[in-house]
Amino acid sequence: MLIFAVESSCDETAVALYKSGVLAHKVYSQFVIHQKYKGVVPELAARSHIEKLIPLTEECLQEAEVSKKAIDAVAYTMGPGLIPCLMAGAAYARSLAYGLEVPALGIHHLESHILSPLLSDDKPSFPYVTLLVSGGHTQLYEVLDYGDYRLHGQTRDDAAGEAFDKTAVLLGLSYPGGAELEKLAKKGDHSRFSSKHKLTMPMANSGDYDFSFSGIKTQVRYLAAKLDLQNDREVADLAAAFQHTITKGLTDKTLALAQEKGIKNIAIVGGVSANRYFRDMAKAKSSSRGMKVYFAPLEYATDNAAMVALTASYRLSKGQKDNLIIQAKPRLGIPA
Ligand code: KG4
Ligand code: ZN
Repeated sequence: MLIFAVESSCDETAVALYKSGVLAHKVYSQFVIHQKYKGVVPELAARSHIEKLIPLTEECLQEAEVSKKAIDAVAYTMGPGLIPCLMAGAAYARSLAYGLEVPALGIHHLESHILSPLLSDDKPSFPYVTLLVSGGHTQLYEVLDYGDYRLHGQTRDDAAGEAFDKTAVLLGLSYPGGAELEKLAKKGDHSRFSSKHKLTMPMANSGDYDFSFSGIKTQVRYLAAKLDLQNDREVADLAAAFQHTITKGLTDKTLALAQEKGIKNIAIVGGVSANRYFRDMAKAKSSSRGMKVYFAPLEYATDNAAMVALTASYRLSKGQKDNLIIQAKPRLGIPA
């Protein structure tokens, strides 16, 4: 079954063609549009999605060397996300399916992140513990099978990616902050600010699997106020300490849940999982406990349509499809 998928939940416009594997996929990142606002402007994001969807579809079809008429089903992200952005992608995808007279299916964005490691050659088998860390979410799941997800913890305030983005702004970096902060942190030494009584991970010893990030942002703000922000070395040290503290806090709780459940496979997904320092730390800590950590290939860590197509392939195989409706939901519960 040839699946065409669309992702437009935030500031990436993405399409993919999938048949047992990814035939082609395209991502247009809108960061140039939002950079001067230091955050995503939903209205501008939606306008850009509308402009890009058709040209990206054409490029994707050309690269995969398939005709539009060969498409058997169309999938799209139905939420959660920014409503004008979701509506742009959903209306486009649903209309395309209607025109081609093929089934359409709205896909839960978080489920597509949860299943994204299955796009890798080296993929986890079920069950696995998943840490989902993106710009909008930080959640810890036990993934028992396709469609069988148990939520064990989540953030009580900001998402991990949001904490990276806001801290990056505080340190004078450009948007999007996560990747920029990682670059800067590479030049720094985390130990100067991550030792005792300096930067600490909130809720590290809370005895549950929840997270909190707003406090660490404030800690960074106080430390930054005492620093000479023109001194590259000091700023890099602070960036490194922030990255170390957050990624260690996330890794520790993820491995603790795996340990409690007796699960050996871990997956870390979502935009923040693109962070190399995080990947290396999680790999080292997992193997020292006899566990193995999996990731989506780097190009599928941040928002993309390949993971939407993969999720649709299993749901369509179960006979699921939407009625003649366009689904766009800014908030959605746990995928089921
Ligand atoms: O999954 P994603 O592409 O979009 C959402 O669904 O939110 O995640 C975007 C988030 C942003 O907050 C971004 O700063 C963060 O992922 N991110 C990173 C890195 N690359 C992207 N955070 C830390 N290090 C990175 N290398
Ligand atoms: Zn996402």
